[in-house]
Amino acid sequence: MDIKIVKDKLAGGQAAFELIKAGMAHGAQVLGLATGSTPISLYEAMCQSDLDFSQMVSMNLDEYVGLTPDNDQSYHYFMNEHLFSKKPFKASYVPDGANPDTDAAAAAYEKLLAEHPIDIQILGIGRNGHIGFNEPGSDLDGKTQKVALTQSTIDANSRFFADEKDVPRFAISMGIGSIMKGKEIILIAYGADKADAIKETVEGPVTTHVPASALQNHDNVILILDEAAASKL
Ligand code: GLP
Repeated sequence: MDIKIVKDKLAGGQAAFELIKAGMAHGAQVLGLATGSTPISLYEAMCQSDLDFSQMVSMNLDEYVGLTPDNDQSYHYFMNEHLFSKKPFKASYVPDGANPDTDAAAAAYEKLLAEHPIDIQILGIGRNGHIGFNEPGSDLDGKTQKVALTQSTIDANSRFFADEKDVPRFAISMGIGSIMKGKEIILIAYGADKADAIKETVEGPVTTHVPASALQNHDNVILILDEAAASKL
């Protein structure tokens, strides 16, 4: 794993943006995108740039079960707000959390991933080491599927909802196996509350207890960290 330490979120967003720009110059056509607060500075850098994404495809990592794209808590809405409304892609896919048949929605998304193999995958990380919504205990070879959120993730994400009870308990997430197919993976983390997860991701054993540790088995991973997130390395 390559590790790049940056001063702050602004510098981290710019560093990730430069990697995407270089990847596009080398022919990248499909970006794997993430939600959460972490990639926002990257999306701002993309929106402020003169790069054209209108011939690119984007594939998002995950979506809450039960939320439609027009729900302002959905990840689809988040992506429209932060990126797609300002920088349209040729096609932008997000798992269909509104489909009551979650197995069918997950299978359809895995088929889309096969049609649009990801060149550059952006990841954040949960405090418990989750990537996408693959919580500790997830199969390290898993495909896109319906997953249950842990209480730690529900608590962390409740800051975006009026009430903790409103946080969906399930999501459809690309599996760790689906994520590992990305040709290049950029994981971004900021803040001291990510330091333990980053230490275990980089220095711990590859284990289902820390889903991001699977990235040790990928040969093209770059971690962009601020000093607080890197403080336990
Ligand atoms: C959610 C998302 C993850 C994201 C994580 C961290 O659980 N499913 O993809 O990495 O939140 O979010 P933040 O960047 O806000 O810390």
